Amino acid sequence: MSRQLLVTGGAGFIGANFVHHWCQAYPDDRVVVLDALTYAGNRRNLATVEGRKNFCFVQGDICDRSIVDQILQSENIDTIAHFAAESHVDRSILGPGAFVQTNVVGTFTLLEAFRQHWGVNSKPPAYRFLHVSTDEVYGSLSPDDAPFSETTPYAPNSPYSASKAGSDHLVRAYYHTYGMPTLITNCSNNYGPYQFPEKLIPLMCINTLIGKSLPVYGDGKNVRDWLYVGDHCRALDVVIHSGIPGETYNIGGNNEVENINLVHMLCHLMDEFVPNLPVRPSTDLITFVKDRLGHDRRYAINATKIQNQLHWTPSVTISEGLRLTVEWYLQERNWWEPLLSEEYQAYYRKVYSYT
Ligand code: NAD
Ligand code: TYD
Repeated sequence: MSRQLLVTGGAGFIGANFVHHWCQAYPDDRVVVLDALTYAGNRRNLATVEGRKNFCFVQGDICDRSIVDQILQSENIDTIAHFAAESHVDRSILGPGAFVQTNVVGTFTLLEAFRQHWGVNSKPPAYRFLHVSTDEVYGSLSPDDAPFSETTPYAPNSPYSASKAGSDHLVRAYYHTYGMPTLITNCSNNYGPYQFPEKLIPLMCINTLIGKSLPVYGDGKNVRDWLYVGDHCRALDVVIHSGIPGETYNIGGNNEVENINLVHMLCHLMDEFVPNLPVRPSTDLITFVKDRLGHDRRYAINATKIQNQLHWTPSVTISEGLRLTVEWYLQERNWWEPLLSEEYQAYYRKVYSYT
């Protein structure tokens, strides 16, 4: 069966990687991207699929019910893959309002529109609403705690994770109340091509290339469970095709790394790949800075459910994935240089006020 997909946030980091994956794996499926093109959205992320006859890009806000209704109806959408969000914790600390608006109100708008559309079409059993969420909704782990499972109670600590938790609860409620065929995934930290420079891995790569300090928060011993974005996209593919409506699936890389160790790995790759770095060895650029407010200590995912039930496992190791990612940022200077805009510099000064 071919699908008609609406991908929200498809011009962002994971959304664009997902669109590339889907167009390649299922060339007969229709893919419509709805994206507001905020600072994090970039039409160039979709350049390789723009000319396809089965692809269409719409610039618009997921909070705009009329545009969502129009796409669902005119494109006869049967599957929503919902990525659109404000996604950066540091920005949520500076200004939480946009996070509540897009992540909570936007998700609610999509749910309401899809409920109506699904109902008008006599509730086809093949319809799916995939809500792409984060492990951050579970809060923070101590060093000896077991990794997050699907039954770990929610305990979000940042405005970002609280807004994602709110949206997860709404999605859950639409299954339990209306029987709408929803799926939720909670994934660990992603990395790979097309990630906006504000996030840890691209920020460290780019700052090394331009000889700027590498700001490590606190003592650098916070732990994240890193997953290569291509592995995440494959997981979302199996959840759409084989996941059971109403279920939640945790997705993770089984790759827990302390931030400071990750930064050292990146510095070594940079030293290896780039002979004429402004500062060598690039570890000389590492600077410990004031900690993020409410900084979660550790995230780790137990992905046994998706592994056992849907037969998904991550395939890219952290050393392979970091190598691929560093190579991509080295080759794609024309992609990231324009993103270091005035707006970005102003944001950077606010977060890293020592610069
Ligand atoms: P991103 O910030 O790179 O991209 C978000 C996209 O959403 C952008 O293209 C932006 O223009 C668009 N957008 C924002 N507000 C919008 C609105 N109101 N209407 C329409 N489009 C809007 O984010 P990402 O890292 O690709 O994350 C995608 C999703 O995956 C998010 O829901 C995030 O919570 C989730 N997630 C991310 C990670 C990660 O490590 N990046 C991990 C787990 C889950
Ligand atoms: P980030 O990429 O912002 O993802 P998240 O906060 O969603 O996990 O940050 C990953 C980790 O790196 C997190 O522990 C915060 C830390 N970090 C720094 O130490 N320095 C930085 O400049 C950034 C952006 C993050």
